[in-house]
Amino acid sequence: MNKGRLRLGVNIDHIATVRNARGGDHPDPVAGAWAAIQAGADGITAHLREDRRHMRDDDMVRLQTLCASENIPLNMEMAATEEMRDIALGLSPHAICIVPERREERTTEGGLDVAGQHNRLVPLIADLANNGSRVSLFIEAVSHQIEAAAATKAQVVEFHTGAYAYAIDDGDKQKADAILQALKAGAKQAHALGLEVHFGHGLTFENVEPIAAIEEAMELNIGHFLIGEAIFMGLVSAIKEMRDICDEARCS
Ligand code: PXP
Repeated sequence: MNKGRLRLGVNIDHIATVRNARGGDHPDPVAGAWAAIQAGADGITAHLREDRRHMRDDDMVRLQTLCASENIPLNMEMAATEEMRDIALGLSPHAICIVPERREERTTEGGLDVAGQHNRLVPLIADLANNGSRVSLFIEAVSHQIEAAAATKAQVVEFHTGAYAYAIDDGDKQKADAILQALKAGAKQAHALGLEVHFGHGLTFENVEPIAAIEEAMELNIGHFLIGEAIFMGLVSAIKEMRDICDEARCS
């Protein structure tokens, strides 16, 4: 298998988090998306949460307009609810990533239980796909969830890299290596089942290389670290550096 260029999706949720801390319009996540596109982002990712803690409905509309005019895919992350389905059907983003969502969580903790929600997810995925969006499921790299994802007819799985990132943060190399092996095995299994493979959550300059080097990977979605790092080096430089690390990883 030839390691092609990895697509880098930049998640801009936390530009909106900063804006919302003061309730005004600054910094505008859509202006951030535009800067990310200029810096080489291959896609823009944004999570419209039930509680609207970062992106707001009008942000999603403005993002879709920007992405369509720049010919850049918008990846909308959403929970599997009727409200979000209706919004997504109206918005028609290029891609939709279905994620688990609990009100009390700080971020998306853990993957979607696709195996346990087959009957709920199948019609939702069909509606979104028939409306022209590429549907992805955010899951852990666990064999039965990968099989379940393929059975829903979703086109893509995005593997949750949070546990891998936290193990590295904790200095637990053995655990990080074991999770990395599971992510690699999951990528092979998903690819063999015809699913496109993405990764995301908790990725940083320090931990991204082994993930970016996974043969089957087609796309990474990275947000919090890039937006945080933008405080120190600027968003454009942070994205360019991440792009360089990913490109180098594909050559090894
Ligand atoms: N991918 C998915 C499906 C996510 O839910 C998130 C977090 O919103 C990310 C990627 C990006 O994670 P992070 O902000 O930790 O880079």
